[in-house]
Amino acid sequence: MRRLVAETTLQPRQLVLPMFVADGLDEPREISSMPGVYQHSMDSLRKAAVEAVAAGVGGLMLFGVPRAEDKDADGSQASDPDGILNRGLRALVQEVGGSTVVMADTCLDEFTSHGHCGVLNDAGAVDNDATLRRYVDMAVAQAETGADLLGTSGMMDGQVGAIRAGLDAAGYTDTGILAYAAKYASAFYGPFREAVASSLEGDRRSYQQDPANRREAIRELELDLAEGADIVMVKPAMSYLDILREVADRSTVPVAAYQISGEYAMITAAAQNGWIDRRGAILESLMGIRRAGADMVLTYWATEASHWLS
Ligand code: PBG
Repeated sequence: MRRLVAETTLQPRQLVLPMFVADGLDEPREISSMPGVYQHSMDSLRKAAVEAVAAGVGGLMLFGVPRAEDKDADGSQASDPDGILNRGLRALVQEVGGSTVVMADTCLDEFTSHGHCGVLNDAGAVDNDATLRRYVDMAVAQAETGADLLGTSGMMDGQVGAIRAGLDAAGYTDTGILAYAAKYASAFYGPFREAVASSLEGDRRSYQQDPANRREAIRELELDLAEGADIVMVKPAMSYLDILREVADRSTVPVAAYQISGEYAMITAAAQNGWIDRRGAILESLMGIRRAGADMVLTYWATEASHWLS
């Protein structure tokens, strides 16, 4: 009877696995604040991708971790075809392209020496419009790898429109944009900073949203839709389920939510202490995010949860 009347579904195709590929690794390296999540070598990335696709996940979202000495103020490696992220994307397209949706993180923060999502002006502040030019170069390099969908996570104003125009001009009219529409400046990104060996000092409050604001998320949604977003995302997920519901009610394109590193770490730590039932808590958290309106969920448990669900 419960199954007959359930209002919300949770299926592997609705889950997207975020992955990290690091330059210069022979073996995968576990991220200490995210037990069970790895910085991958090129080999282990391919293996984990094949496993995820066999489990039925809807997509893979790849982040690159360059060597520290390859970072610079402009994040040059981000648009270098031989940069770690673009090499990783090519490996994924070769290994599982056509069997799942290959997504690329289109943001400079992993590649900049200062760790910000954009380039800086003389005063040391993020220069929005100069950053857009870097994003376009990065997006075209990523589209060249064969990636299906570009995840614009940098929260610069006008990024979706600039990238759409840049892709179209370069002939990549079929490469889609997953717009991080409402991305909040969150303490729950903590473990991700370790995952990508971030160089950031300070915070991202000048370009990410204030957790106090709800209307601002709708404004960001409407701008991204007008600029050509194919999918819009709310991030983080669990502390922003009200925002997710409101975005889902208004969006004219599919909606994603990102269950981020801190959410993963909290459930993992509590489960390791025997304080909560791990599997129950993971599935309940994913169901809650779906119920709030997410058509798809980015989660570090995508492969494991897909095994449970199928
Ligand atoms: C930065 C970026 C972040 C995440 C994805 N892209 C961190 C930040 O904005 O500081 C966080 C993902 C996670 O915490 O799992 N472009």
